[in-house]
Amino acid sequence: MEFFVDTADTSEIRELAATGLLDGVTTNPSHVAKTGRDMFEVIHEICELVAGPVSAEVAATDHDGIVAEGRVLAGIADNVVVKAPLTTEGLKATRTLTDEGIPVNVTLCFSAAQALLAAKAGARYVSPFIGRLDDIGHDGVQVLAEIQRIFDAQPELETEVLVASVRHTTHVTEAAKMGAPVATLPPKVLWQMFQHPLTDKGLAAFLADWEKTGQSIIRSG
Ligand code: E4P
Repeated sequence: MEFFVDTADTSEIRELAATGLLDGVTTNPSHVAKTGRDMFEVIHEICELVAGPVSAEVAATDHDGIVAEGRVLAGIADNVVVKAPLTTEGLKATRTLTDEGIPVNVTLCFSAAQALLAAKAGARYVSPFIGRLDDIGHDGVQVLAEIQRIFDAQPELETEVLVASVRHTTHVTEAAKMGAPVATLPPKVLWQMFQHPLTDKGLAAFLADWEKTGQSIIRSG
């Protein structure tokens, strides 16, 4: 399973990239707004920090506008993936951009029917927002399971499910169990994946015992 980070904060991205465990980045207009920086500058910097796919979202809502913006965004770096909304116009533009060889991440997907259409339009990724479904009392993991089951049953579909709007580590492990190939996580959730109190407790005990031996593993000469 690949892990992307869902942010436009380049310090957070730099820190996570240094773990060697980061496969890509997703951004959206809200993330860019939070940085207060110029979008082109931010996306360019992210693409230099991470070799994997970096999603940059269009702001237009009509076919021609999405295609025009998508072409510009794709010109920022080779690893840019254009993010387009799951609307009729967004999917029309997905087909056009895909036919031009520009990869598209179809965002704001909330149902299996929508995911199927994104795949039919040739999307590189489709992003089901599971946390936002949970927020309104639906079951995001269940919708994700339905989507993944459909994609597994239709191997001719080349689109990958990119699990989005992840709120906690259980979302990630549930997605992994069902074979979702990619998840984009807020930095906080990615860092939480490293954590377990028994790891900290166990390490403290090992180090205390080691101290008593007075030994050193690195020896000079
Ligand atoms: C995905 O690409 C989106 O940027 C993101 O996952 C949205 O998540 P949110 O519901 O936490 O805003």
